[in-house]
Amino acid sequence: MPAPAIKVREVTKSFGQDQVLKGVSLDLLPGRVNFVIGRSGEGKSVLMKILTGLYRPDSGSVHYGQVDLATARRREVDRIRRRMGLLFQDGALFDSMTVGQNVSFPLWFHGLAKPREARAKAEGLLSELGMGGFHDLGVSLLSAGERKRIALARALVVDPEVVFFDEPTTGLDPLLSTQVDELIVHAQRLSGATVVVVSHDMAATLGLADQITLIHLGRVVLSGPPSEFRASRDPEVARFLLGGDAGEPAFAD
Ligand SMILES: Nc1ncnc2c1ncn2[C@@H]1O[C@H](COP(=O)(O)OP(=O)(O)OP(=O)(O)O)[C@@H](O)[C@H]1O
Ligand SMILES: [Mg+2]
Repeated sequence: MPAPAIKVREVTKSFGQDQVLKGVSLDLLPGRVNFVIGRSGEGKSVLMKILTGLYRPDSGSVHYGQVDLATARRREVDRIRRRMGLLFQDGALFDSMTVGQNVSFPLWFHGLAKPREARAKAEGLLSELGMGGFHDLGVSLLSAGERKRIALARALVVDPEVVFFDEPTTGLDPLLSTQVDELIVHAQRLSGATVVVVSHDMAATLGLADQITLIHLGRVVLSGPPSEFRASRDPEVARFLLGGDAGEPAFAD
């Protein structure tokens, strides 16, 4: 199946008195790498959860082809979710499982592969991520970077049509961070998937994105290719290009 076009229109979301998203509209480019950027607390993770059907927006629509996640029945939302690979910012591993069991969990959960296939798949992804030989280890003693890579492998194991990565490289050292970025692009080229990445890393964003969307004060400031960002005179865009992002602490390299 070709990657679906995803159209987001006038999405709002409040928590109590606080309206985090005030009318977000954007078109995610199918089969391309779409970055979402913005200051810390602007609602990027909330938007990711809406795009993946975990939260319903208060108003607005999120169309995957004909299906609107905002109003679709739960079963229809679940059908679309089976086509997604997810790496959430706060996504935890199962500490009681091995590395391999964590990676192949979505295959098992959705009944998509036999144990032998699942193992081969997980081992292949782990070795691409520099973690060959980790398959049968427990995860509880692993480093943050290793855990991040396991979560990444878990997101890719289902051969998703749409992949969501919420800050996949935060907390990794510069070398690993570059490797993970390359893997994301590599995975996208191989699969033709639609990739959505939330990132605070401007160099990676400008270097890898087909489209960048900047969220500020609950709305989209600009959505377009890196060239459009470089040409923009918007002060909020300029602040990002100059690396003045007050979000997650960046690694000095
Ligand atoms: N489930 C929730 N209940 C209440 N408030 C929430 C919930 N989820 C998010 N928020 C609030 O929504 C706002 C946006 O949060 P969000 O996590 O989307 O920010 P972000 O842009 O991802 O920031 P960061 O770059 O630091 O990850 C924050 O004020 C947060 O406290
Ligand atoms: Mg976030």
